[in-house]
Amino acid sequence: MKILMVCLGNICRSPIAEGILKKKNKQHLFTLIESAGTADYHVGKNPDKRAIEIAKQNNIDIEKYTARQFKQADFKKYDIIYAMDQNNYQNLKKLATNIKEEEKIKLILNEIEPNSNKSVPDPYYGHKDGFEIIFKLLNNACDKLIENIE
Ligand code: 4NP
Repeated sequence: MKILMVCLGNICRSPIAEGILKKKNKQHLFTLIESAGTADYHVGKNPDKRAIEIAKQNNIDIEKYTARQFKQADFKKYDIIYAMDQNNYQNLKKLATNIKEEEKIKLILNEIEPNSNKSVPDPYYGHKDGFEIIFKLLNNACDKLIENIE
């Protein structure tokens, strides 16, 4: 099972989600866990300092991850593509070229609350507290997605 976590910039939410799921992947349920952004603003950059910090506080090292932009070929490479929010979800849907690709796109918080279509709030312009909130949300979502697959 190959998983791609997707947000806008690939420097806050999706690298945190990638780090969390990698840490939880003790049973090797997933053979590939990566992340990408729908936008190209931060391509090649390491995660936001606040994202690195909240991950570090939870014994997860995401310092060396580098941002990349989602590309069409990713639909073939991954089994599930988790969008962090509604905008990412809609943008990914626009890039899908067939039903099979479309069906790979899911909203990550639906793993916690099916069909609720909630978004992981964008923490970029917000207060540092935002990173604690998204860490908890993503930690819970990753537990649930493992449970739901097992
Ligand atoms: P992310 O957060 O999508 O969780 O990585 C953001 C990062 C950068 C920007 C917006 C959101 N930005 O506008 O540059």
